[in-house]
Amino acid sequence: MCGIIGIVSKKDFTSKFLLERLKRLEYRGYDSYGYYDSRDLKKYVGEIIVAGENKSRIGIAHTRWATHGGVTETNAHPHLSCDKDIVIVHNGILENFKELKEELIRKNHKFVSETDSEVIAHYFEEGLRNKDIKEVITGFLRETKGTFAILVMIKDKEEIYALKRDSPLVLGICKDMNILASDIYAFSDLTNKAVLFDNDEFAIITKDNYKFFNKNGRVIRKPIKKFVWEQEESEKQEYKHYMLKEISEEADVVKRLLFSLDNEQKTGFDKLINLIKESKKIIFASCGTSYHASLLGAYYLHQVGVEAQTLIASEFKHFANIDSDTLVIAISQSGETMDVIDALKYAKENNAKIVSIVNVPFSTIQRMSELSLNILAGQEVCVASTKAFVNQAALLLRVAQEFGFRVNLTNLAEKIKDLLDKKDEIRRLGERIAESRDVYIIGRGLTYPVAREIALKIKEISYIHAEGMMGGELKHGTIALIEEGTPVISLINNNDPDIISNTREVEARGAKVIIITNNKDLEKKKNTIHIRTGNDGKFGILATVAGQLIAYYAADKLGRPVDKPRNLAKCCTVK
Ligand code: AGP
Repeated sequence: MCGIIGIVSKKDFTSKFLLERLKRLEYRGYDSYGYYDSRDLKKYVGEIIVAGENKSRIGIAHTRWATHGGVTETNAHPHLSCDKDIVIVHNGILENFKELKEELIRKNHKFVSETDSEVIAHYFEEGLRNKDIKEVITGFLRETKGTFAILVMIKDKEEIYALKRDSPLVLGICKDMNILASDIYAFSDLTNKAVLFDNDEFAIITKDNYKFFNKNGRVIRKPIKKFVWEQEESEKQEYKHYMLKEISEEADVVKRLLFSLDNEQKTGFDKLINLIKESKKIIFASCGTSYHASLLGAYYLHQVGVEAQTLIASEFKHFANIDSDTLVIAISQSGETMDVIDALKYAKENNAKIVSIVNVPFSTIQRMSELSLNILAGQEVCVASTKAFVNQAALLLRVAQEFGFRVNLTNLAEKIKDLLDKKDEIRRLGERIAESRDVYIIGRGLTYPVAREIALKIKEISYIHAEGMMGGELKHGTIALIEEGTPVISLINNNDPDIISNTREVEARGAKVIIITNNKDLEKKKNTIHIRTGNDGKFGILATVAGQLIAYYAADKLGRPVDKPRNLAKCCTVK
């Protein structure tokens, strides 16, 4: 995933302003970055540093997460044509770039980078020798295979040309300027008006105008969408990390969501309930944390007799039989996860109905769905998804409630607050696991998805190996790894005898056990986080919040860059 920005403005803006916009997309990848304005081309390896007083009225910028070509300044975007008059940034992957590159090399183009993207600059240079820009773009849309959001600048022209297929691209209409970006976060503090690109559309953007075209070059009219976003949410405030800030917002965002499901989202929510009732088969498609939320959702639904299958989106087509009686529910915080998009494409080809539960308005996944509900968690800046998980799970619990799941959701926010008040106690436990190389988290039924999610959080931000598993699977092999001092987090729902016995098994082997439970009898036990709720549904969510805090404090103790995705530079393949 990469992030792109383009600005055309009536007034001067600084390179610092351009990079500030780019910084808001840093969560999309940050191994290298670069920008081009009317004065300079700059490229850097590493984290985006917001600086520079150069003034300009046009510019493009890119934050990279390498796919083709290693992490170097040369491979960072923007890329230039041979005569350096064409400048491009690209998010996506050009599948047939090798063929295009060979053809361009035959025409004497010289390539300097190892990327697929550089082909675009040379393609435009070659095309513009005897065609106008619209002809070159329509030709590009015909001849290229793959995914892209591309911004093109031509030296001395005060226009940006923008093209999109499958990678996200939006235009923000701001006072005095137009901003192109990979998502609305980039400009959500400046405007609430956006125009969304659909696949195989392109646009010509100037400082005070924009024109959209279809793939044949015909002008098309596009509606301006108004979005609602809490602007102050993007500030870190007094918190050391966004992750902690976002966990601290969980009580408020869950309240906002539950209110909206009974009010402004009520029509959509009722539609979802009807679709579930009418469908013969229900399959969730999601990845990572969103997958764990859907697994919890599937558990809730099973308790009230609604069969739902949960699949990791990247394996969707291998394990799902889809037809027109199937309801596919995509769960995604960003609404832009490519594996989920691919699963939905497959579901569409097989005539399934598609519903999505997302956090980012107007995201690709939302727009692929016939019905979409918003979890209203607000912007998640930290790469580790926390408040989005809480709202995804709360929404699914609310759905299960419609089918008879007994739960009082009115005090869920209060319960989250109570738990967050125990932060200091939880910090001590988090710091305990920071000393370890491996951590095991065990759960059963309701707490199995929670165990998986806590393990993911620990791995993702503290880089400690963590395995979240079903307690029942311990005896089938993994127990061999539990020895004196191995940390095990045991998730005990009420007085579930099976998980209690698994806990005893690991204790007998000398494991350092941390318990997260709602069982009153265990309240006083050493190294135990006691959660006050007898309800299964709420315990699933609250136990995850406790795990998020454990992961956070472990990572903080180790001095990890909590808010950032780990730099994967060394893992990149050079093609
Ligand atoms: C969670 O902390 C991760 N950042 C990751 O697993 C994430 O949940 C996954 O990539 C799916 O993203 P999505 O919800 O935006 O689709």
